[in-house]
Amino acid sequence: MSLTLKPRNPVRAKISSVGSYVPPRLLTNADLEKMVATDDKWITERTGIRERHLVDKGIGSSDLAAEAAKVCLARRGIDASEVEAIIVATVTPDMAFPATACLVQNKIGAPHAWGFDLSAACSGFPYALQVGAKLVESGAHKKVLVIGADVMSSIIDYTDRATCIIFGDGAGAVLLEPCEEGEIGLIDYHHEIDGSGAPSLNMPAGGSLLPASHATVDAKQHFVHQDGQAVYKFAVRKMSEIAETLLTRNGITGADLGCFIPHQANKRIILSTAERLGVEESRVIINIDRYGNTTAGTIPLAMNTALDEHRIKKGDLVLLASVGAGFTAATTLLRWEI
Ligand code: UT7
Repeated sequence: MSLTLKPRNPVRAKISSVGSYVPPRLLTNADLEKMVATDDKWITERTGIRERHLVDKGIGSSDLAAEAAKVCLARRGIDASEVEAIIVATVTPDMAFPATACLVQNKIGAPHAWGFDLSAACSGFPYALQVGAKLVESGAHKKVLVIGADVMSSIIDYTDRATCIIFGDGAGAVLLEPCEEGEIGLIDYHHEIDGSGAPSLNMPAGGSLLPASHATVDAKQHFVHQDGQAVYKFAVRKMSEIAETLLTRNGITGADLGCFIPHQANKRIILSTAERLGVEESRVIINIDRYGNTTAGTIPLAMNTALDEHRIKKGDLVLLASVGAGFTAATTLLRWEI
């Protein structure tokens, strides 16, 4: 392995803590069998999902985000008053405005933080991670909370078997801080967007183009609409393509990775990407069986799974990768410093 570190600012950013939260209520494949024409075998074989967690009425993304943030800060042993910025990646904000970040700031009690939301669907967390890292690397801030949170159940049509089996609710948070002497932290990233993919995965109404009306509700335009096969084909190709670009640029291969933490949209997409990159399966973090696709929540939730299962350790090279609505695509290379 010959990791090539690009010259950059003297300040490097690292992930110094992780936390996650999912609501307690479960929706299993057996439950879905009673709701739509589907079966456990189809869902498990085509997606890898067995169950997902869903919120009860009255719980929004800010609630999940705040719980994940509290776990993250408690693990680091610091008070929310030390947090200087909060970035929440979500496509299911509590409301159009104010930003979910404002609601989280109030819920966790972070009087010295500013913040904002970032909308990039399944790539929301890695995009927010880079924005947060830039705040640290510029020297502007020393403690930045980056959160991925989605209540997908709020925009899913539970009579549509093509989408209702996939998504779940959940949130994950990381704290970004400057590296200590000898640490490397976040190394490099490669992001892309391709807006020609917008028709393949979207929620058509409720924005400025098609404001909410009786007609949009009747036409079910406030739910997720997905051309599953089109997204699948793009994701399988793009996820490995961007990851390969990043690894090559940094002088390493998939075999050098201690851990691959991909977005959890479909187990087949994850395994195909891992195979193309040459990452052995034991180093791939997969928890889609337990959580489904929680959109911006998947990668930090999977980081938490990696920690819980002792499958990641200080010094490991870690690759993150995601593809989602937009289309958006993201991949991040980092050294784990916890
Ligand atoms: O994170 C955001 C990014 N999203 C993704 O990455 C999702 C990417 N796409 C996928 O993961 C897959 O395309 C799906 C899981 C959504 C669908 O799997 P597929 O293997 O592409 O299935 P399909 O859409 O090609 O449908 C195959 C058959 C169809 O029946 P016919 O036309 O062959 O008779 C569907 O009607 O499976 C049928 N089907 C189902 N059957 C049982 C579709 N949904 C279901 C279901 N249960 N829930």
